[in-house]
Amino acid sequence: MTPPNEQADPEGSSFSAESSGIPAEAEAQTSSPGTLDDGNQAPMQNPPSMDFWQAIYTRRSIRRFKPDPVPRELIDQVLHGGIWAPSSCNYQMWDLVVVDDPKINQELAQISSQMGNAPVNIVVAYGRGFSEENFANVQSAAALIENMSLAAGVLGLGSFWITQVGDADALRAKVGLPIDRWVVAVLALGYPKSVPQKGPKRRPLSQVTHYNHYAGKPIPSSADPAAWEPELLTIYQRARVLNGLRHNKPRAWEVHALDQALQDLLPQSEEATEQWLDVLPCTGILSDRMARKRKGTEWSVVERSNDVAAWCARRIKPAASSYLWPATGTDPTPTESQFDTLTCFFRLEGLRAAERSELMAQMFHWLKPGGRLLLGFVSKNSYHNWTEGLRSKGKGPGGVEYVLSPDPNIGPFEALAPSEVSALAKAAGFTTKGTLGLQATPTAEELTFRTRNFNPRLGSLVRGVGSVLRLLEFLPGLSRHRGRFQYRLYTRPKS
Ligand SMILES: Cc1cc2nc3c(=O)[nH]c(=O)nc-3n(C[C@H](O)[C@H](O)[C@H](O)COP(=O)(O)O)c2cc1C
Repeated sequence: MTPPNEQADPEGSSFSAESSGIPAEAEAQTSSPGTLDDGNQAPMQNPPSMDFWQAIYTRRSIRRFKPDPVPRELIDQVLHGGIWAPSSCNYQMWDLVVVDDPKINQELAQISSQMGNAPVNIVVAYGRGFSEENFANVQSAAALIENMSLAAGVLGLGSFWITQVGDADALRAKVGLPIDRWVVAVLALGYPKSVPQKGPKRRPLSQVTHYNHYAGKPIPSSADPAAWEPELLTIYQRARVLNGLRHNKPRAWEVHALDQALQDLLPQSEEATEQWLDVLPCTGILSDRMARKRKGTEWSVVERSNDVAAWCARRIKPAASSYLWPATGTDPTPTESQFDTLTCFFRLEGLRAAERSELMAQMFHWLKPGGRLLLGFVSKNSYHNWTEGLRSKGKGPGGVEYVLSPDPNIGPFEALAPSEVSALAKAAGFTTKGTLGLQATPTAEELTFRTRNFNPRLGSLVRGVGSVLRLLEFLPGLSRHRGRFQYRLYTRPKS
């Protein structure tokens, strides 16, 4: 548990130097006798220990902590674990600022809300210009952080790794780090409120490992649906949903839009029992919400994989029936004229053009004559692509997971032109019965969320501009034509 060898603390530590376990010649290169910390006394006497594999498998990201302060002796032990990580060229250009002052932590939470969770935030910085080749600086800092999180777990503490640190320069300045230190991440630390029994699942070893030569198919890192083979979309979505993304909640402004669309376009039916199919519900969060509101409905879901379909079906009480699409030939798929009502929210956007037409044709086929389809999609003619463009020009990471799209969306996403959707519906045989466009400008809730990690001045400027723009929502026809969320009510003609 205790570090085997460590250079003396120049400030004068109480650690003594004894047998280090480091080869004599290496020891001679780095330090003189009497200045080594051999770990026998540092920093805790008899710290708790844990089986190595248990430490690895039970480490969890903890995001809710007790307010209790963490004794510095324990923090130091965590830091010791950290600095015994490997670093590129053994430069050890890391610097750690441990913030355990509640007042400063509150200030950090203003920079990124992620830092408002724990009584301790360890700001991890690395020297700029050191080992940048192949990101060896990031790799060194990451090794240190992982060592610290493992050490924290063994000591009964919880930790979570924060990369969403907001304005990293503001954070650096706040904790007094000089300009030549680069803030890599923050490790939040504290006593956990509760420890999850199980962690989010890992991709199976067989999927990620290839001996001698890569033999798999990589998941595209592009949000463009054209880059995604349908089979890969199925695999990716299954992995994300089962690995924990199913807990992502739809945002409040998306839920308001959905509620309004249901109320305006699909009011509660007079019929006693309605057969309702939710198409590609993905996490099932919206199906669950609709099912709670619409009693007396018999629910079914259709998804791309058995696991995700079963997950969504179980979310609904009583459990929904589950079907697969695209059809596999062996698993149940919805049948001709089976349903009174279909809903499909923000799923066409993730499909390739051919799959979009195929799904529209299938949905027509699954409906009874006279049955209704409520389709929701994000319009290309709205501010959606504009904000997406801003995001990709900014510092934020690109790729699939960060697509600004109705949450929870998983995988590729491309906003659609309303004319394109109309053409798809027409080609499938649908008749349009209703149109609703919502949120031509971002709601106050969305702007508050999107600007939560901006510096305060910029954040209030953006929100101020947003509230002025929102006055435009009163212009007749604007939301209908420029609304981000578009809903269409289609019917399958009776004959
Ligand atoms: C490089 C890195 C960055 C991370 N950034 C964040 C973050 O900003 N916020 C957060 O809540 N979790 C963050 N995490 C935690 C991951 O979400 C978490 O490790 C993952 O879901 C697996 O869960 P587990 O740590 O409990 O096994 C990060 C993890 C790593 C390795």
